[in-house]
Amino acid sequence: MKGSLWQTIRHLLPYFRPHLGSLLIVLLCTSLLTGSALLRPHILKFIIDEAVVNQSYEQLHQAFLLFVGVLAAGIGLGYGQIKVSANIGLSIVQQLKQELYSHVLRLDLSHFNQNQVGWYLSRVESDTEQLKQFCSNITVRMLLDAFTFFAILITLYLTDPQIASWMGGILIILLCLVMLLMTRIRPLYDVVRTRYAKLTGFLSEYIHGAEIIQVFNRNKEVQKELEILGQERYDSEIKASFAEYGTWALFSFVTETCLFAVILYFGLAKIHSGEMSLGTLILFLEFSRQMTWPIHSFSENFNRLQRSTVAAQRVFSLLHTQDKVKDLVLDPGGKISFDKIELEKVFFQYKEDEWAIEDLNLSFQKGEKIAFVGASGGGKSTTINLLCRFYDPVTGSILVDDEDLRLRSLSAWRRSIGLVLQDVFLFPGTVLDNLRAFREDISRDSVIWAAKELGSHRYIEKFPDGYDTVLQERGANLSQGERQLLSFTRAWIAQPELLILDEATANIDPYTELILQESLDRLLADRTAVVIAHRLTTIEKVDRIYVMSKGKLVESGSHQELLQRKGEYFDLFELQKENAL
Ligand SMILES: Nc1ncnc2c1ncn2[C@@H]1O[C@H](COP(=O)(O)OP(=O)(O)OP(=O)(O)O)[C@@H](O)[C@H]1O
Ligand SMILES: [Mg+2]
Repeated sequence: MKGSLWQTIRHLLPYFRPHLGSLLIVLLCTSLLTGSALLRPHILKFIIDEAVVNQSYEQLHQAFLLFVGVLAAGIGLGYGQIKVSANIGLSIVQQLKQELYSHVLRLDLSHFNQNQVGWYLSRVESDTEQLKQFCSNITVRMLLDAFTFFAILITLYLTDPQIASWMGGILIILLCLVMLLMTRIRPLYDVVRTRYAKLTGFLSEYIHGAEIIQVFNRNKEVQKELEILGQERYDSEIKASFAEYGTWALFSFVTETCLFAVILYFGLAKIHSGEMSLGTLILFLEFSRQMTWPIHSFSENFNRLQRSTVAAQRVFSLLHTQDKVKDLVLDPGGKISFDKIELEKVFFQYKEDEWAIEDLNLSFQKGEKIAFVGASGGGKSTTINLLCRFYDPVTGSILVDDEDLRLRSLSAWRRSIGLVLQDVFLFPGTVLDNLRAFREDISRDSVIWAAKELGSHRYIEKFPDGYDTVLQERGANLSQGERQLLSFTRAWIAQPELLILDEATANIDPYTELILQESLDRLLADRTAVVIAHRLTTIEKVDRIYVMSKGKLVESGSHQELLQRKGEYFDLFELQKENAL
């Protein structure tokens, strides 16, 4: 805890720097609040020992006014302190959230294989919320509590060292016990947070897969699983809260009883012998009540601090995750044009001991079209992922004009590639936004002109609002064929140096297929392209076909050559022909 607390403070310190002025105000308010808390019992003592004893209405009046004044000042200072510190917390958390968002968006794909979407949401949304408490009131309140506690102890010590020493001894022992118990409660909150993340993760997966779950009638099972996860989270929360508040209630009771007993035991004897006034006894009793409050508050905040530290560890570990795919070169702007791309002895794995790509060697020239075919899981998409540099090879390299791809600018490379995937990704926004990928430098007219060139204009025009049709999330209000058409047009507008295409497998009606095929032919003409083909008829014209199986290249050649060889490609071809019949 200690190490991680210091680490949290160290990580957060730079975020506090712009708020130094506000921090000073908070500290000032805190000190004045402590002062006002200390003054009140003294006023009570003055009323009893002076005003009442002297039977002076004047003194009573003054004391009353002072008491009300101190109370009002306390309320004002408390309000100011909470407002300023909350502001600090909010703006720090806002900044952290933005940093996290942009960091997560830039992370390379290998990270997303390990975690569910909900995991990231929980880091960005709920962990930062926990940190807000750390940055605003927790630290200030703990400071205030410690200030108040020790100030009262010193005042009491100066008034009566004997009783104050006893009280101090009892309180320190109890405080240590509270701290010890609270460190035991910490793991319980860890469980709560893990279960919460599991629940949100499950929920977001469920929402993504809603169609499939409904089609397969798995609603009941999913609901049951959700109920179990919800109950588990609830149970862990109840357990943790019960442990926390139960501990506090017990200690509050024990502390107040012990302090009262000590004060009354020594105080009454001292009053009897004339060593102590009644006002001083009241002062002690009042302060003893005020002392248990900071302990409660301190222990509660200590607990929150622990939770915040756990949250901070998660937030900063995400914020400091290093990408495996590194952009080592300054972006020169523009696209990377090339004459030849070569994969040389490429090995790649997602999981240890399991090669997804093994010893892949191939090359293609500018203007050539190559295709990958093969059974599912053969490594076709993985090869594309490597070409896009979503991952880097474990060994071997991808060479662009004999230079390792890792030594070229990643941003420039990504700009040079047009990626058209089976599962077309569309952003929420208009058709126009999607076609120009939110690049404002591409004018509406040039988008329409390009769409006309590709032949998709007449279909886009027929959308309800044409180019201004608002797309729902992932283009849910379009048919699959329409989505494909948009993704072809998007790639066409970008005019990539290398087009990578994972051909759609879904059954599209023959009419739409014809439209798509026309646009696709236009898109591919005179372009360097890598195609994953599922229907072999579409790749008869490519320069070279690579057949992949279990991560390895098993055959390569033109359509005719491969058919003559009567190997795996021939079998695949025959199989598709039979199915088509
Ligand atoms: N994100 C991932 N994490 C772990 N393993 C993966 C991941 N993606 C693919 N794999 C594994 O790598 C191997 C190659 O998969 P890949 O997706 O490249 O196959 P594919 O040839 O594209 O298959 P398909 O025709 O079904 O699309 C498979 O064994 C697959 O299970
Ligand atoms: Mg694939």
